[in-house]
Amino acid sequence: MIVCHCRVVTDRDVADAVQAGARSVAGVCRSTGAGRDCGACVFSLKRLVCEHGTTLVAPVPDVLPEVDVAAS
Ligand code: FES
Repeated sequence: MIVCHCRVVTDRDVADAVQAGARSVAGVCRSTGAGRDCGACVFSLKRLVCEHGTTLVAPVPDVLPEVDVAAS
């Protein structure tokens, strides 16, 4: 399944990156190239990294949509 459509990165690519030593969303992004364009895939990447039992450090892109915390 394609996780990052901008860079055509699959869930398998993410699993391989984690297995190869990526221990954070940032690491997976560096390794696969995912999450470096629109940022829409970052939450899916985060979920996949969590599923692989790794520790999250920080989301990568600075292009994430703004969230109105007061409205939620
Ligand atoms: S879908 Fe991953 S950066 Fe756009």
